[in-house]
Amino acid sequence: MFRRYGILIMMFIATSFVFAQGNSESVNVYTHRHYEADAALFKQFEAETGISVNVVTAGADELIQRLSQEGKLSPADILITADAGRLEYAKELGLLRQFNSANIQSAVPAAYRDSEGYWTGLTLRGRVVVYDATRNDGSRLSTYEALVDDDFADSLLVRSSANIYNQSLLASLIAHHGAARAESWAAGIVANMARAPQGNDRDQMKALVAGDGDYAIVNTYYVGLLQTSNNPQEQEVGSRIKVFFPNQEGRGTHVNVSGAGITANAPNQENAVKLLEFLVTKQAQEVFAKTNFEYPVRDDVALHPVVAAWGEFKADDLNLSFLGEYNTEAVKIFDKTGWK
Ligand SMILES: [Fe+2]
Repeated sequence: MFRRYGILIMMFIATSFVFAQGNSESVNVYTHRHYEADAALFKQFEAETGISVNVVTAGADELIQRLSQEGKLSPADILITADAGRLEYAKELGLLRQFNSANIQSAVPAAYRDSEGYWTGLTLRGRVVVYDATRNDGSRLSTYEALVDDDFADSLLVRSSANIYNQSLLASLIAHHGAARAESWAAGIVANMARAPQGNDRDQMKALVAGDGDYAIVNTYYVGLLQTSNNPQEQEVGSRIKVFFPNQEGRGTHVNVSGAGITANAPNQENAVKLLEFLVTKQAQEVFAKTNFEYPVRDDVALHPVVAAWGEFKADDLNLSFLGEYNTEAVKIFDKTGWK
């Protein structure tokens, strides 16, 4: 029987070897998330229910491909991704099934769940603009749209367009303004970049503090990870970073979820529902908030003090299924505008 992290290695050694199927005492999870918070929560669920949680960790696209290839024989019960767009894509491919849970419906606001019940958000993150407070007061910042203005020439730091977080941000702009305006926005951002995209969100903040640019577009929890890092250099970077929530006067800041769906052929469907219900309990949401600096999807859970210190903000309430719907268009626009 596979145990947790042994799975990933074994997967490559013996691809025909699968989880024990239909075993009522287990639930099999394919997840793109790789955080300590998740591992701790799975352990807690095992202790409380006696249902063992088997985990395969890989990139979302890899997991979706694996689910497609495995078809009816897939051992997976749950797919977890760090983006609503990938869950929408899995749903479109017929890889997910609808589930009905009064607990989930009452815990998670409708905006953070699929309207047809194929997936639910587990945590929320904002894609914000940050600056170095030791040499900038952030007073020029207002909206994502304004970042293309001359005010921001040669000043923007942002990662590659291959990353889903940027694809979803652009998808949200397509949803709000149409493809033509989204394209001119992307071209304007490219024109205002301080350097060609490189590295991850944390690297943008390190470059910012090093003086390579004046503003970085990043996900909120990475700010929390730097601000609380055990590494003194990272902590120094974090201490100089200030978070700005764009579009507060209008539609609100772009947010995305980490979320989960139950697979179309889940052999342990009931256990899958139980695990998802557990992950949106107050107790589990507190773990996401406190150890991974994410915003809980429930509104009765306290934020990490570091996260609370960034201030309250209004989130864009765009239906997150649009992030999946416009993903292909977003990727095309990035290619066209030369956002590497
Ligand atoms: Fe991330």
